Amino acid sequence: MTERELMQAAQDARQYSYSPYSNFCVGAALLTKSGKLYTGCNVENAGYSATNCAERTAFFKAVSEGEREFEAIAIVGGRRGETAPFTAPCGVCRQVIAEFCPKNFKILLGTPENYKAYTLNELLPYSFTNENL
Ligand code: THU
Repeated sequence: MTERELMQAAQDARQYSYSPYSNFCVGAALLTKSGKLYTGCNVENAGYSATNCAERTAFFKAVSEGEREFEAIAIVGGRRGETAPFTAPCGVCRQVIAEFCPKNFKILLGTPENYKAYTLNELLPYSFTNENL
């Protein structure tokens, strides 16, 4: 799967976003080392703190099915009906990614037409991981 296809999968996953409170629809597409794709969307809640971001939805789906090795994740967001030029993962999602992925894990941000690849280390330097325990 190409990077562009991964970005498109993230864009497509936005259609399932449950976001009646923010009306901000996020999709994520997580590629495993074995080539399997897990998508996720944000799932909001009337108790706002119970909201789950798209990235964590994708990771929790994959991890709960036994996946442990990941190649890359693509993230696309924006107000309902629009695509934002750039949607960055929140701090909690960066921490969840750090639990399962090495510092050079690839994170694609932007739109399917115009995106950029970042490493996990660029987005979460000096992270606290199991190596610190
Ligand atoms: N959100 C995500 O799903 N991922 C991000 O990277 C940023 C924020 C969601 C959470 C909430 O449902 C909405 O976007 C507004 O914060």
